Order: sequence, then C-alpha cells, then structure tokens
Amino acid sequence: MPWPLCSRPQLGLCALLSLAAAALLGHVLLHDSAVVPQELYSFSRVPEEMDQAGQQGGGGPRPQPSPGAAPTQCDVPPNSRFDCAPDKAITQEQCEARGCCYAPARWTAGGAQMGQPWCFFPPSYPSYKLGNLTATDTGYTASLTRDTPTFFPKDILTLRLDVLMETESRLHFTIKDPASQRYEVPWETPRMRRRAPSSLYSVEFAQEPFGLVVRRKLDGRVLLNTTVAPLLFADQFLQLSTALPSQHITGLAEHLGPLMLSTNWTKITLWNRDMAPVPDVNLYGSHPFYLALEDGGLAHGVFLLNSNAMDVVLQPSPALSWRSTGGILDVYVFLGPEPKSVVQQYLDVVGYPFMPPYWGLGFHLCRWGYSSTAITRQVVENMTRAHFPLDVQWNDLDYMDAKRDFTFNKDGFGDFPAMVQELHQSGRRYVMIVDPAISSAGPPGSYRPYDEGLRRRVFITNETGQPLIGKVWPGPTAFPDFTNPETLDWWQDMVAEFHAQVPFDGMWIDMNEPSNFVKGSVDGCPANDLENPPYVPGVAGGALRAATICASSRQFLSSHYNLHNLYGLTEAVASHRALVKARGTRPFVISRSTFAGHGRYAGHWTGDVQSSWEQLSSSVPEILLFNLLGVPLVGADVCGFLGDTSEELCVRWTQLGAFYPFMRNHNDLHSQPQEPYRFSEAAQRAMRKALGLRYALLPHLYTLFHAAHARGETVARPLFLEFPEDPRTWTVDRQLLWGEALLVTPVLEAGKVEVTGYFPPGTWYDLQTVAAEAPGSVPPPPPAPLMSAVHSKGQWVTLPAPLDTINLHLRAGHIIPLQGPGLSTTESRKQPMALAVALTGSGEARGGLFWDDGESLGTLERGAYTQLGFLARNNTIVNELVHVTGEGAGLQLRKVTVLGVATAPQQVVSNGVSVSNFTYSPDSQTLAIPVSLVLGEQFLISWS
Ligand SMILES: *[C@@H]1O[C@H](CO)[C@@H](O)[C@H](O)[C@H]1NC(C)=O
Ligand SMILES: *[C@@H]1O[C@H](CO)[C@@H](O)[C@H](O)[C@H]1NC(C)=O
Ligand SMILES: *[C@@H]1O[C@H](CO)[C@@H](O)[C@H](O)[C@H]1NC(C)=O
Ligand SMILES: *[C@@H]1O[C@H](CO)[C@@H](O)[C@H](O)[C@H]1NC(C)=O
Ligand SMILES: *[C@@H]1O[C@H](CO)[C@@H](O)[C@H](O)[C@H]1NC(C)=O
Repeated sequence: MPWPLCSRPQLGLCALLSLAAAALLGHVLLHDSAVVPQELYSFSRVPEEMDQAGQQGGGGPRPQPSPGAAPTQCDVPPNSRFDCAPDKAITQEQCEARGCCYAPARWTAGGAQMGQPWCFFPPSYPSYKLGNLTATDTGYTASLTRDTPTFFPKDILTLRLDVLMETESRLHFTIKDPASQRYEVPWETPRMRRRAPSSLYSVEFAQEPFGLVVRRKLDGRVLLNTTVAPLLFADQFLQLSTALPSQHITGLAEHLGPLMLSTNWTKITLWNRDMAPVPDVNLYGSHPFYLALEDGGLAHGVFLLNSNAMDVVLQPSPALSWRSTGGILDVYVFLGPEPKSVVQQYLDVVGYPFMPPYWGLGFHLCRWGYSSTAITRQVVENMTRAHFPLDVQWNDLDYMDAKRDFTFNKDGFGDFPAMVQELHQSGRRYVMIVDPAISSAGPPGSYRPYDEGLRRRVFITNETGQPLIGKVWPGPTAFPDFTNPETLDWWQDMVAEFHAQVPFDGMWIDMNEPSNFVKGSVDGCPANDLENPPYVPGVAGGALRAATICASSRQFLSSHYNLHNLYGLTEAVASHRALVKARGTRPFVISRSTFAGHGRYAGHWTGDVQSSWEQLSSSVPEILLFNLLGVPLVGADVCGFLGDTSEELCVRWTQLGAFYPFMRNHNDLHSQPQEPYRFSEAAQRAMRKALGLRYALLPHLYTLFHAAHARGETVARPLFLEFPEDPRTWTVDRQLLWGEALLVTPVLEAGKVEVTGYFPPGTWYDLQTVAAEAPGSVPPPPPAPLMSAVHSKGQWVTLPAPLDTINLHLRAGHIIPLQGPGLSTTESRKQPMALAVALTGSGEARGGLFWDDGESLGTLERGAYTQLGFLARNNTIVNELVHVTGEGAGLQLRKVTVLGVATAPQQVVSNGVSVSNFTYSPDSQTLAIPVSLVLGEQFLISWS
C-alpha cells in the first residue's frame, strides 16, 4: 500500500501522507487467523561450542599472539570473516583485546574496495541471547540480552525482538530498545492484527548467539541467516549481518556502476551527498533495500527501514552487513517469488509511484546560462523552427534575483510572467529550479521568505537554538526543516505567492541533500557524539558534515544526524503538496536527493553527470535501478551536464534519452551549447527521429506509468525482471525494456555503427519502422530499411545501428498503442492512434491503453479515464472496453500494423466492412491495415 499512516497525527508530513493511504490500507488490516502453525515455531540447535574466551566479552587480551598460532575458532575462511574493527585500523594487540582474531592479509585498495578484514570475529564472540520467545497474534516476540559490552560505547544490553508475519510474502521484524524510545523513521507501516494465515516463508531462531533464519518454504532455501556474525546494538552503532543465498544482488543506494553489485568486498555508503557522480562514493540518494536473485530465477528482497548514515558491506561468502549509526533495526523481507513481485511488495510498504502529468513525459530542455527571457524565448523558437518537439522549457538559477528562491531578476527576466504565459499559449509548460536553502543575508524586511521563515520558526537550528547558517548559491543561507508542519505551510505559502506572479507548472528541487558550500555551518559545528560518532561510514570527505550541515543541528522531529537522508524526500513531499494547492492539478516535482519511498511524491534526475561515453553507459543501470526502487520517473541529463558533448555523443544520448522515462537535455554554464538544433543536419535528423519515436510511444509510456501508480509495476525494466529464469539476463544493464514488451538496444560507444544486445528467447520484431510511420507523423519518416525480426533462442545478436538508428524491438505476444507525434503533447494528444500487434507463432497478442485528460487530480478515483484491452487471436483483433469515459472515448484509430502474419491475407474486414487498401509484405510478414475506428467503441478486425 502507499505511504503508511502515522502515529503522530500532528505531524504535517504524516497528516499529508495518511490522507491517501487511509483508503488503501483496509484490505491488510484484518487478516483473520489466530492459528499459529506449529511447524514455524522451531529452533535451531544452540551451538555447543559456545566459547570460553568470548565470555570475557572483549575484556583482557587473548592469549593467542600470532595468526599462525591462532586457535581453531579463528580458523574462519577469509571470505566469511566479519570485520571486528569496522571503526578504525587497529593493531594485533588492540584486536585481540577486543576478543577478536587477527590475521593480516595483503591489503588491496581503499574506498569501497575493502579486502578481507585483518581483525575478525571468532564464531564464539559474545553476542545476544534469545529469551522468552512467545507466540503472539502477529508472530513472535522475544527478548535479546547480552552480558558483556562490546568495543562500541553505550551498548544496549537488553533488546526486544518482534517478528510480524504480515502477509503471505512479507515478513517484518524489529529489534529495538524496550526501555527507551529511540529515533525511528517517522512513518508507520501497516499495522496487522493477525499473522497471515499462510506464508511462503518459515522463521527459525538460534538462541545463543542469537540469530534469525528465514527460509523459502518452497525449496527450503535460506534467504536470511543473521547467525553468521554477532548482532551489535550500541547507541550509535548497529550491525546486522546475513548470509546471502547468491552473489546476484542489486539496489541499496544511488551509485555509479553496474546494476548488479559486486560481493567482492564492497562497501556502499548511504549518506546523501552533493557529488558529481563517480564510482564508489555516496551520491544523492539512499535506498536501504536490496533485491537478490536466487539460482533458478526466484527472488527476494530485504528493506532496512532506517535513515541514519550507514554502510552496507558485501563480501564473497556471500554475505551482507548493515552497519547503521543510529535508529532501530526495522527489517522487511519480501518473498517474491518473482523479482517483479519483490518490487511490488517493497512498494506495498514504501508507496506506489505518483501519476505524472502527461506533459511530464514529453521532451524537456534546460541549461544553466539561459540568462534572460529573450534567450529562453530564442531557444523555444529555435526548437520550433527546427521541428523538434518541446513540451517543457526550464530555467536554472539564471531567473532568480541574487540567486534567491521565489524571486526573479528584473533585468533579464523582467517579463518572466509573460514568457511563461506565452509558453502556455503555445501548448507548452514551464519548470524552474528551486533550492531549499533560503538567503539569510539581507536586512530584515528585504526578503520575505526569510523574514516569514524566521517568524514562523521553520529553519533548522544550531546548538544555541538559532537558525544554522550555511552557504549556498545566494551566499549565507538558512535551511528549512521540512519535518516541521509549519514549514510545509510556509513553503506552500511561498510557492503559492510566487505562482501567483509566475504561473509555473512544476518544480525542480536541487541541492537538497542538503548541499552546503561550507562544512556544517559558517560557525563550524560543535564537538559532540553526533558530529563525531564512534563509527563514521565511508562518506566522501571523511566527516558527516562534509558538503552539508552539522549532524547535530536540530530539526522538529529529531537531530539532523537522524534525519539527513530524509531531507530531499521531505522537501519533495512539501513541494508536491504545495503544487497541488497552488495549481490544483497533478504535481510535477523532480528532485536530486532521494530516500526510500521517494517515487510516491517526485521523480529524479541523476545529477551532475559528465558528457562522456562512460556516463552515457552508466545511465542505463541507474535508470533501471531507480525503477526497481519505485522511482520510475527518472532520467540522466541528455548529452551530459558537465563538460562539452560531441555531436556523436549527443546523438547517441538523445536516442537513449528518448527511452528514459523522464527526458531532459540539460547543460552546464561552462560547456558548449547542446540544444538539438545546434548540430549538423544529419545529427538533427537522427535526433528528430528518436524524439519522433518517443512521442509516438507516449500513450504506451503513459499506460506503463498508470500500471506503476496503480499496481506497483516498473516502467523501464532490466531484462531479468521479465526473464528471471534465464540467468544470462541477470547482468544485462546496457539494454532496457519498457514494460514487458519493448526492448531498447542503444549504442553506448563512440564510432560504432552496430550494436550487440541480448535477446531473450522468443521473437522480437523491429519496431522502428512501424513507430516512425504512426499516422500524422511530423515530419514524414525517412524510408527505413525493413529489418527482419529476431528469432532468438536466448542469444546475443549483433544488429546494424547507423548513427540515425536506435534498435527497438517489440516482443511477440504484445500489442502497443502508438500516436502520431506532434511538437508538444498538447498536439500529439490530438493525433490519431495506431496499434502495433506482434503475433506469437500461434497468432496471439494482447495489450492495453490507459488514457485520461493527463493532468487532473484523482481521475482514477473519479472514474474519469478510459482503460482498454486489445486482444489478437485467430486472425482477429478486438478491443475490450474496461472503462470508457472522458477524453479517451473519442480517440481515433487509423492504422493497425500486424507483425508476424505468415501467409498473405486475401481479405481484411473491419467491423463488417471490407478493407480494400491493406498492404502485406511477405518479406517482413507485416500486414498494414488502414482503418477508421473509434478506440473506445467495440471493434473487430479480421483477415483471412
Ligand atoms: C523472561 O521474562 C522474565 C519475566 O518477565 C524475566 O525475569 C527474565 O529476565 C526474562 N528472560 C530473558 C532471557 O529475557
Ligand atoms: C546460519 O549460519 C550459521 C553460522 O554460519 C550456521 O552455523 C548455520 O548452519 C546457518 N543456518 C542455516 C539454517 O543455514
Ligand atoms: C576480487 O577483488 C580482488 C582485488 O581487487 C581481485 O584480485 C579478485 O580477482 C576479485 N575476485 C573476483 C571474484 O572478482
Ligand atoms: C537561435 O537561432 C538563431 C538563428 O540561428 C541564432 O542566431 C541564435 O543564437 C539562437 N539562439 C539560441 C539561444 O540558441
Ligand atoms: C548559531 O547561529 C547563529 C546565527 O543564526 C550564530 O550567530 C551563532 O553563533 C550560532 N551558534 C553557534 C554555537 O555556532
């Protein structure tokens, strides 16, 4: 279900979240079974080798001095060693004083590449003991106690474990301090009164040392086993380790690199940070959720609902350790069993994605350096003159007065409101950048957002209770605290007041990690445990305050130490809410910083990427990752942001970008221009063709977004999501699927005119020609050579890919809607539609369309939409009218292209009327049928 209800209704964040959630929670509240199946109530053997040395609990030095003479309990295979010195480098003596084993190894690299630990836990290391295990209506509860402290300060010696068997496929457990309320992420998950009547998993416990094992009942596979390393739970250091059933794991955080993570001693750091993407560092987003593929193609997922700074360590045994610096352990396990269901089950907890306005799927254009309305207007005119679609024009900081939010400069942007109105008149939209930090520099009375903010106490405060002052674009700035309900109202007022002057359509929220040009604040940060925790995760810059505000600064709900990773999300919630109020239509928010659950409120762009071939390639796994994380509206800056693009790179990037769910070309102030019209005629033709494909496919893309919003599906998908049983798909991250059926194989390297891609078993029809010939296509498509379909047994296929071509294939068995493109979605939405029907060998295919006015709120709830199914079978195609109202009722169907028609038809009939002007190509086995039908009225087309 979407965002869970909150226990503290006074919180603005929660109040907002609970609105939509309330209706949808009903069906999970009342699972009605009190039966506790006894077979689940089992214990694993209490290990007999419970040690002696360990009982001293990190007391005196251990007697074994050298690794050669290590006791048998130090005889742990290198890949299975768990680090006993995560906090700092220590000597053998210090290691043994901790009660741990010491065995130096050749140290490889620093950073995320860690290498095996030299100092590691013996199996006998004292840990928690499970006691008083009791079955409850929802699962189990137990106490965890340890006798001796660890080497971290302030161990919590008594803990409470709650195991909640919430649904058939979802297990939830929490480990917390029963004696005091620790910080928890300020949202509440669905409450269950009864355990699920049946489940795909069983739970077992190890008593001493404590461990929890989750098994997949189907095959007995152990998905989680936390007995592999001791549980640590100190005030500022929590560690939970688990064995992984396979090396194939993805998720966790925004990072630059392959979709599948390496378990070869990798550390992933979650602490949102303003950092131009490079490998192996913490970037803008934290998503403590992983999806693991198991041998055979089943999958499960694990979510640690914790927002503190953390590291996640992957090691080759394979195993994973969560190392958080605060909060509680609040863990969800999702049983799938298909990878798709894992994503859906995760989104059941964090929320399904918001439904974007239709125009948000069009082409967006931006650059830092459009220094006036005159220049911005020229850009729009030049796009139109060159026949490029443009839905949304953007501005970066340039529009602002002294780089301050909610202002515009009267020199270059004096007629800013008029410019935005003109864009609206031409059927376009407008979005501008808004940063969270509010200029604090001027004298009182000179800048209303700050004056009002001070008066309403919306800013994050420092040690002395005054607004913490950092430095961002405008100079000295204060940082709004979006966990304070008053801040939500203040933000809404500022947005509404600015919107009353400049009728913008969406908000681009940048710099919201939050980014700060000075460390912590202009006054530095105090020296305390929050600023200098006993364990500092592998953050770039080495300290929590690097490029952001002081960890110990105060927010309404807690310290920034606890809330930092939620900053972007809470600003997204505030902006989403403010836009709903100011505009009364569907909000459009694109944010740089993200946290789990972000997709419910906003989209994301991947930040300050380089104009390089490497970053072009790595954008594919990043787009796929964010779709798995429930943020489908995502894209990288087309042609790259930093540095100069080249013509070839920009063409290839525009082709790939045409298949980002969110497509924006954005450029840095200091780089060569890269608007599509800047390039040679040949390059422009190639870009126009790619944009034409995107616009023709927008009805399909919109339908996929509806499925994401309504059912927790993904939009852009890795191949393994559709073909998990084929392990060759697992590592494919240079291709992507749209939905189940559209396979995109981009060129990601310089100087290439062919491309090799993986084609899962089945028939894949070349769709370029079909889509380019959608009715009403502007300008007329260039004649494209008809390529034959790929009949794959599950193999790598090399395809021609000249500069004007991105390979696009439709999977047999699927029908997708197409629409004649226009220079904006306002135009394209009026064009007639076509259907591309890709038959299987047995002549079948199915598909659908979701349509509404594209921007009203609550069209689903009000029933103001059209939903159609399409079905092909036995040489006939029919539509199924699931729900027909509103604009969708009148959509015209002008053409049906059937792919995979083996024999030449003699006759084609549409609704009983013979169609004389159909065409059939025996080479490509394509039947093209011109029709004149209304999509929302029953039709039947047949051939024989
Ligand atoms: C079990 O519960 C009893 C009674 O509440 C308590 O005295 C005892 O310490 C508990 N045992 C453990 C291991 O927590
Ligand atoms: C869990 O891990 C422990 C420690 O490695 C091991 O002894 C135990 O057999 C494992 N349990 C299961 C069910 O795999
Ligand atoms: C793991 O990393 C080490 C050091 O970089 C390297 O030597 C080794 O080959 C890697 N192993 C695998 C399986 O990739
Ligand atoms: C728009 O095109 C005109 C004519 O080619 C050119 O002079 C001008 O620099 C362009 N402006 C921008 C902002 O692209
Ligand atoms: C807190 O911030 C104020 C400015 O709002 C500053 O004057 C004061 O020195 C800061 N306090 C500390 C302890 O840094």
